[in-house]
Amino acid sequence: MKLELDPAAAGERLAIVPMTHGDVAEVVRIEREAFVTQWPADAFYNEINSNKLAHYFVGRCGGEIVVYGGIWVILEDSHITTIAVDMRHRGRNFGEMMLLRLIDEAMARGSSWMTLEVRESNVVAQRLYRKYGFTTVTARKGYYSDNDESALVMWAGNLKSELFRNRLSALREAIASH
Ligand SMILES: CC(C)(COP(=O)(O)OP(=O)(O)OC[C@H]1O[C@@H](n2cnc3c(N)ncnc32)[C@H](O)[C@@H]1OP(=O)(O)O)[C@@H](O)C(=O)NCCC(=O)NCCS
Repeated sequence: MKLELDPAAAGERLAIVPMTHGDVAEVVRIEREAFVTQWPADAFYNEINSNKLAHYFVGRCGGEIVVYGGIWVILEDSHITTIAVDMRHRGRNFGEMMLLRLIDEAMARGSSWMTLEVRESNVVAQRLYRKYGFTTVTARKGYYSDNDESALVMWAGNLKSELFRNRLSALREAIASH
C-alpha cells in the first residue's frame, strides 16, 4: 500500500524565502483559488523584477509552495500588498508565519507603520491582522470593483515601540511552541 504523507501534517517546517521567477506559476495557482480579482503572472514578474519598493516571499513545506505574501516599503510605511495560503493548507499557521515574515522585513527596512486593505466581509483575514495589532482606521467605500464591496484600511504600529516588539515576541514564541 502506498502511504500518502502530508508534509505539513507530518510536522515539516515552513521555509520562507524571497519569491523568484520560478515560483510564479505556483503562486498564480494559489492566487486563482484565493481571490475573486486575481493578479496575472505578469504582475508578480513586474513586482519581483522592476519594483524596487517590493519584497515578495514564498513559504514552502515539503517542497511545495503553500503560502506567499508581499509588501511595499515606502520609507516609514510598509504596505501589505498580498498574502494567501493554499486552500488545502489553511488553518495551520502558515498565513500567520508569512505575516510575521512581512512584519520582520518591514521592521528590518526601517518602517514604523504597516497598512493594508481588506474586504469588509473577509473576517478571517481581519482576525489574523487584529491578532498582530492592526486596527481599522477607515473604510474605502466601493473599493472592490467586482462587487462594489468596501475595503477596511488597517494600520499597525509603531513597529519600533516596545509595546509592539513585546507583542511580536509573545506571538512568535506561541507559534514556535505549536
Ligand atoms: C487569511 C489567510 C491568509 C489566513 O491564513 P491561514 O494560514 O489559514 O491562517 P492561520 O492558520 O495562520 O491563522 C492565523 C489567525 O488567523 C485567524 N483565522 C484563521 N483561520 C480562521 C477561521 N477559519 N476563522 C476565523 N479566524 C481565522 C485567527 O486569528 C488565527 O489565529 P488563531 O489560530 O490564534 O485563532 C487565509 O485564510 C487566506 O489565504 N485567505 C484567502 C486570501 C486572503 O483573504 N488574503 C488576505 C487578503 S487581505
